[in-house]
Amino acid sequence: METAKTMTTHGTHFENFFPFARPTLDDHEIEEVVSCLKSDWLTTGPRVKAFEEKLKAYHQAEHVVCVSSATAGLHLSLLALDLQPGDEVITTPMTFVATVNTIIHAGGTPVFVDIDPETLNLDTQQLEAAITPRTRAIMPVHFAGLPVDLDIYLELQEKRGIRLVEDAAHASGAFYKGKPIGSFNDICVLSFHPNKNMTTGEGGAVLTNDPAIADRIKKLTFHGIDREAWNRFGKTGQQGYDVLLPGFKYNMMDIQAAIGLHQIDKLDTFVKHRQALAAVYEEGLTNHPYCRIMGKPDYDYVHARHLFQIVLRENSPLTRDELMNALKERNVGTGLHYQSCSDFDYIKKQVPLPPQGLPISHYVGQNIISLPLHPRMEAEQAHKVIDILNEILKVSP
Ligand SMILES: Cc1ncc(COP(=O)(O)O)c(C=O)c1O
Repeated sequence: METAKTMTTHGTHFENFFPFARPTLDDHEIEEVVSCLKSDWLTTGPRVKAFEEKLKAYHQAEHVVCVSSATAGLHLSLLALDLQPGDEVITTPMTFVATVNTIIHAGGTPVFVDIDPETLNLDTQQLEAAITPRTRAIMPVHFAGLPVDLDIYLELQEKRGIRLVEDAAHASGAFYKGKPIGSFNDICVLSFHPNKNMTTGEGGAVLTNDPAIADRIKKLTFHGIDREAWNRFGKTGQQGYDVLLPGFKYNMMDIQAAIGLHQIDKLDTFVKHRQALAAVYEEGLTNHPYCRIMGKPDYDYVHARHLFQIVLRENSPLTRDELMNALKERNVGTGLHYQSCSDFDYIKKQVPLPPQGLPISHYVGQNIISLPLHPRMEAEQAHKVIDILNEILKVSP
């Protein structure tokens, strides 16, 4: 068989298209979903309950509410804080647009703070200047799975009452100062989209140690009803219920939880695999003439390695889109995480830029590429991606 080193006639390439992300499922998930389908109970019920218990144990969180997506979880978290029109929520423009949309859906005003070019996480040096008397919450993203410096945010919460909502869509399996993401005294939202570190098909979870917030989110998840359907339909349940809030239909189904129940058991193995692949990329791409990789913060953390990204330098012979297309031609799938949200049409109209602009986020948003990274990929394939990248950019090893 040809290897990355021997395939030189028409340049190195993968025989078939090599996707940048793939879910990793086996018979455990498949059999559990089949059991669920045969059980007569498809929507929120015992499997969601069991999954919430497992999430609680893994994340050391006192309360967990499973929801239909992280988008739903972020939306409900902000509603649970009872934002008032004009209340400001500070966030990063380097995120999926869901983060910003949910602030607007909840009636808040997004305020952007630029990112740190080394980590791509929100630049905490610029945080103070963005805080005003209307700041109600900060929603940082643990970008690519790298935990933000949570102590800074927790101190703002404690001393100035600015609530912390962690967008941890990338961070299942990440740790900060020895504790899992989700165990801190705030609100933390996970995503179980198929590209994420663990999946339930679609889905998410809100983790908090605040019982009042958990209770409100639970009610908001299902039409503001004061009782679960599982209880109502069971032999011991009662059909009647009251409605306490104008809630949503954001509940997770047992079919989804059937997948999650087994994914969580493998999360640490998945993350270790991702870390090993990231180490291959780091070794091959450190000091690359045309692209740079992210730096390492000096606090104690475990990177969940949801994404491995390169940012093209200004001297790159190809633009980001040209490079992504050239990689696609060689059967290498890539991802774009993300264009800066501040550059999107409606957001540009609605969210003013800070006085100094958002130059780092803007540049990164035009020059970033996510390389293939998932637990079904081998180290050899990461080496091959590097070889292909170097061939395209005409960099000799
Ligand atoms: C940073 C970030 N926040 C929020 C979301 C929304 O997650 P979901 O697709 O589960 O709604 C995503 C999804 O890609 C994300 O990457």
